Amino acid sequence: MIHRVISLKYRPQNLDELTGQAHIVMSLKGAIKSGRIGHAFLFAGPRGVGKTTTARILAKSLNCVEGPTVHPCQKCQSCREITISRSIDVVEIDGASNRGIDEIRNLREGVRYSPLHGRHKIYIIDEVHMLTEQAFNALLKTLEEPPRNVVFVFATTDPTKVPATILSRCQRFVFKRLSLQEITARLRTIAEKEKIQIADRALHYIAIRADGSIRDGESILEQLVSFVEGEITEEDVFQLVGFLAIDYYAELLDLILAGDLGKVIALLNRGIEDGAAPLEIYRGFTGYLRMMLLVKANVSEEFIDLDEKERTILKKIPLSETEIIGMLETCLRFEDSIRRSTNSRVAAELFLSQLVLPRIQTASQAVQTTSKAHAAHRDASALGEHLAEYLQEKSPTLAGIIRRAEVKKQGNDIAIVADSDFSKEQILGNKKSVEQILKKLTGTDAALTVEVARSGQEDDIINTLKVMFDGEEVR
Ligand SMILES: Nc1ncnc2c1ncn2[C@@H]1O[C@H](COP(=O)(O)OP(=O)(O)O)[C@@H](O)[C@H]1O
Ligand SMILES: [Mg+2]
Ligand SMILES: [Zn+2]
Repeated sequence: MIHRVISLKYRPQNLDELTGQAHIVMSLKGAIKSGRIGHAFLFAGPRGVGKTTTARILAKSLNCVEGPTVHPCQKCQSCREITISRSIDVVEIDGASNRGIDEIRNLREGVRYSPLHGRHKIYIIDEVHMLTEQAFNALLKTLEEPPRNVVFVFATTDPTKVPATILSRCQRFVFKRLSLQEITARLRTIAEKEKIQIADRALHYIAIRADGSIRDGESILEQLVSFVEGEITEEDVFQLVGFLAIDYYAELLDLILAGDLGKVIALLNRGIEDGAAPLEIYRGFTGYLRMMLLVKANVSEEFIDLDEKERTILKKIPLSETEIIGMLETCLRFEDSIRRSTNSRVAAELFLSQLVLPRIQTASQAVQTTSKAHAAHRDASALGEHLAEYLQEKSPTLAGIIRRAEVKKQGNDIAIVADSDFSKEQILGNKKSVEQILKKLTGTDAALTVEVARSGQEDDIINTLKVMFDGEEVR
């Protein structure tokens, strides 16, 4: 059906065919029309956004028989040769695979000869930041005394690695990652021309996955064409790229808010079985929370990669901005461990457990405070709060420990159940002053005991994790 790969077939052949990059198109057109062409350009920007393409278009515009022109004829020998990368006057060097000084030496030889057919000799060095220091030095010599009619175009995804001496001799163009709308529109045009049947939602998810790069979007589309018969649906996209729909993250969040750890972990594992990596699910979920925050904060739509349906889903979720920020903070704490762990699945499980844990406790607190039978308990926890307040100024750490602990009244005596051995030691280390404050607060000479909790919730979590791991190969 498609004989040439999409990204080649749909490589723009003149500046007007480029998607986005309007600022670059405008200034290049201006330069070509005025005939004032610099001798070195630096095209910086992420992968797959049109750097190499634009370098070739520039070469065509300069060397076309009708040129310099912003509308290269596409028919003359020069235009045709550049289209198939066969022009003798346009030399492409891949900096990543030719890091050696030899290539630049060849280049220094080559620049001495005048162009064969065209007006200019054009050197396009891709991923120029990969060149060795020696190669850069050799290149610099050429740049310092540029031969007539030679134009350099350096492309790079990492301009910070290009030496300042080179940068300062280049006219610099910064290519932008393409927006979701731009990628979707481009893919839609291609699909129409190729008579590919594809659902709007499928295009939408391809564009999300392309993450700013038209080339990545095109290559996903192409793979889908090769294995899907009939209309391409969003399910096909998820299957191919191991990508989970927003509904997945919505469900995950629902379960987290309900404090249902077992189901949360089961859903995580279902996602992994569907082909998503734990890091991917982590990123997806974090991105989902971030989007929710932006939607709730009414951030302008152009910064939000969502369609109408998704925005509506997010608006309805009963979380305050503060709560979302709190969850995002937990997310960020886990990024490293999920990224680096040799067992990223377990790291992801612990991450989600951390999000669920406070919900379990809130749920059980809610039960406690509404139940009349636990009125005494409520008094005790109020006592705990007062105690923490008193301690706040003198020792915020201790106050925090008390807040996390459970304070119980046993007759006239008071027991504090700390959340860890460390917390228990901290309280015991300050037992005298804690007792004094308690005496003030209660008006009685209550004896204080300090214990450590093996909390039921923690046991639940550990048991659930064990059940999940048992008899299963941990990836
Ligand atoms: N701005 C763009 N407009 C239209 N197509 C693009 C654009 N950027 C990239 N593409 C598509 O992606 C392919 C690769 O682009 P390329 O210029 O090599 O990207 P880069 O050099 O920035 O990595 C092109 O052949 C084209 O099909
Ligand atoms: Mg390129
Ligand atoms: Zn031409």
